[in-house]
Amino acid sequence: MRTLVIVGSQWGDEGKGKVTDYLAQEADVVVRSQGGNNAGHTILFDGNKFALRSIPSGIFNPNIKNIMANGMVIDPKQMLEELHGLEARGIKKYQLFVSNRAHIVLPYHSALDGAYEQFKEDKKIGTTKRGIGPTYADKANRIGIRMGEFIQPELFKEQLKTVLKIKNMELQMLGLEPFDFDAIYTEYSKYAEEIKPFVCDTAELLEEEILKNSKVLFEGAQGVMLCLDHGTYPYVTSSSPTGASVPLNSGIAPRYIQDVLGICKAYTTRVGEGPFPTELDGELAHYIRERGHEYGTVTQRPRRVGYLDCVALNYARRISGINHLALMLFDVLSGLDTIKICYAYELDGKIIHTIPATTYDYSRVKPLYIEMPGWKEDITSVTSFDELPIQAQNYIRKVEELTKIKVSLFSVGPDRKQTIVLEELFK
Ligand code: GDP
Ligand code: IMO
Ligand code: MG
Repeated sequence: MRTLVIVGSQWGDEGKGKVTDYLAQEADVVVRSQGGNNAGHTILFDGNKFALRSIPSGIFNPNIKNIMANGMVIDPKQMLEELHGLEARGIKKYQLFVSNRAHIVLPYHSALDGAYEQFKEDKKIGTTKRGIGPTYADKANRIGIRMGEFIQPELFKEQLKTVLKIKNMELQMLGLEPFDFDAIYTEYSKYAEEIKPFVCDTAELLEEEILKNSKVLFEGAQGVMLCLDHGTYPYVTSSSPTGASVPLNSGIAPRYIQDVLGICKAYTTRVGEGPFPTELDGELAHYIRERGHEYGTVTQRPRRVGYLDCVALNYARRISGINHLALMLFDVLSGLDTIKICYAYELDGKIIHTIPATTYDYSRVKPLYIEMPGWKEDITSVTSFDELPIQAQNYIRKVEELTKIKVSLFSVGPDRKQTIVLEELFK
């Protein structure tokens, strides 16, 4: 296997950063192809913890080419803060390439993100307020600014003048303060100058690497259930985190994509609003949230937690072509007497095995569960499947049976070392 897509198979925060970093030990190239700094990917090795937002998780390995591809929306100020933060912690030798076709996030995007949320009142999405939706909207509306223009002062000036006129009208219509052209231009020109050396045609570079037989990891952000097309619309993000979006968002042919590793927690979490059939509350939710430190990497919001939902996982398998599964945060489930897994939903008296298209229907489904015996043992230091308590082994086998996907690795703690590979994916 030379190309591997890493896809979040739930509602994000499944541990994509940890798995990317782990597999990046064997990779030549790591690509982020969609999303922006709404993502928060946590990585832990040698006692160091990093939370990456828009920089690919291969950045710690100086031999890896890290690509921020055309499908990303990049906040230049935040990207530089992130890079400087890494440099301050000793990550000074890295290879980074930024697509000249990626769109940039400007301050008016974040202001509009906040305003839309405010006006939606009880229908708010619970976005990260990083301007992601408004930036993708401008891209589709053809009033976005791309890296290629951004790094050329005259082109940036011309484009910003036109666009800011329109955006300021929109801001004022919503009762917000307009932005000053000179202030944005002066501040952001400095960022553009600093980012310029990284900017190139990353699609061309990527094809060259693939034709050289390099090993390429595509690091998904968000998760399939947050997909703009196939997720729980409108409670989704504004890009597609599916395997299918990878070729388009990185500029390569679909035939280069071979395998898709779905990352899933041993349970389910969701940040932000929207239906969540297996959601728990009370003591059990508290137990899982505290053991899993389920607080958002980007916004610090407590994550909503629930049982594992195999209807959602099956859906992600179908939509994204997932053919391997990484079962994460398995250690969190230790200590429970029994554990439930959702295998189907009931809607209006009928059993269904897929995700209804409307929020109206999806918020009315009742999850149907199987209940399995739990285990009391701490599993954070196991190094093989056989060392797991029999109940934990049975849990993995049941997940495979219900999702029809082989569990190729499982994880028993946040550290790089706490990763147990059952099937080599990327050697
Ligand atoms: P991502 O957005 O998919 O990269 O996931 P996040 O980094 O936002 O959230 C996953 C969280 O779980 C992070 O805090 C990780 O350090 C942590 N984590 C990853 N794998 C494990 C695991 O197996 N066990 C435990 N306890 N924590 C894990
Ligand atoms: P990673 O890559 C979890 C959620 C937000 C909100 C919705 C829309 O770390 O898994 P947006 O700011 O994108 O317009 O917000 O999507 N969301 C995520 N939830 N993990 C993420 O990324 C997310 N990125 C966006 O909470 O519900
Ligand atoms: Mg995250």
